[in-house]
Amino acid sequence: MTVTGPLNLIIIVGSVRDHRFGPTVAEWFIGEAGRHPDFALDVVDLAETALPGVLLADHAAPGEVPGAVGELGRRLADADAFAIVTPEYNRSFPASLKTAIDWYVDEWQAKPVGFVSYGGVSGGLRAVEHLRQVFAELHTVTVRNTVSFHSCRDRFDDRGSPIDAAGCRAAAESLLDQLAWWARTLRDARAERPYAA
Ligand SMILES: Cc1cc2nc3c(=O)[nH]c(=O)nc-3n(C[C@H](O)[C@H](O)[C@H](O)COP(=O)(O)O)c2cc1C
Repeated sequence: MTVTGPLNLIIIVGSVRDHRFGPTVAEWFIGEAGRHPDFALDVVDLAETALPGVLLADHAAPGEVPGAVGELGRRLADADAFAIVTPEYNRSFPASLKTAIDWYVDEWQAKPVGFVSYGGVSGGLRAVEHLRQVFAELHTVTVRNTVSFHSCRDRFDDRGSPIDAAGCRAAAESLLDQLAWWARTLRDARAERPYAA
């Protein structure tokens, strides 16, 4: 079954601390994703999303789900693809991102996930490798290509543009093309038959 219409891509900004660098990376990537013809964009900034740090009990009633969790869950459920903008903290990804991931189950399933990472010497690549393991548990497909920025504050100019604009654009296009292929393929497959987790 072929589903028509733009693919709904949710870009999740994973860092939440004061004076974070995340928005610089995210705003650049949002601009790149906005140029891609296949996607309609939604942006979730975890710093502006009041997800509780403590999860519900397994037997919690639907009425106990906090409002912010329900609201974000509806947006994630509507997504065809996810792009995670993540820094690296202590060789992994930030706790804010793990909390957001753990609040949801079905919302992630049978959808592709791409990564834009940044950090110090590692460019966030170790955070991405940990995220691939986590997202495997949630029945997602993580796309191979990534965009990464090592020594991230040195990689952008004063206006928030990457210094290697052409190289970064090529990397983003490659990631977005792979994400679109999987998003379209899996959207059609989900419409054909529900995913059996
Ligand atoms: C708690 C903490 C741990 C960090 N650990 C690493 C690390 O293991 N590897 C690395 O390359 N950079 C590391 N960094 C550098 C961050 O990736 C870099 O400061 C980045 O800007 C953080 O993203 P944010 O500014 O959006 O919070 C760490 C930064 C913090 C705050």
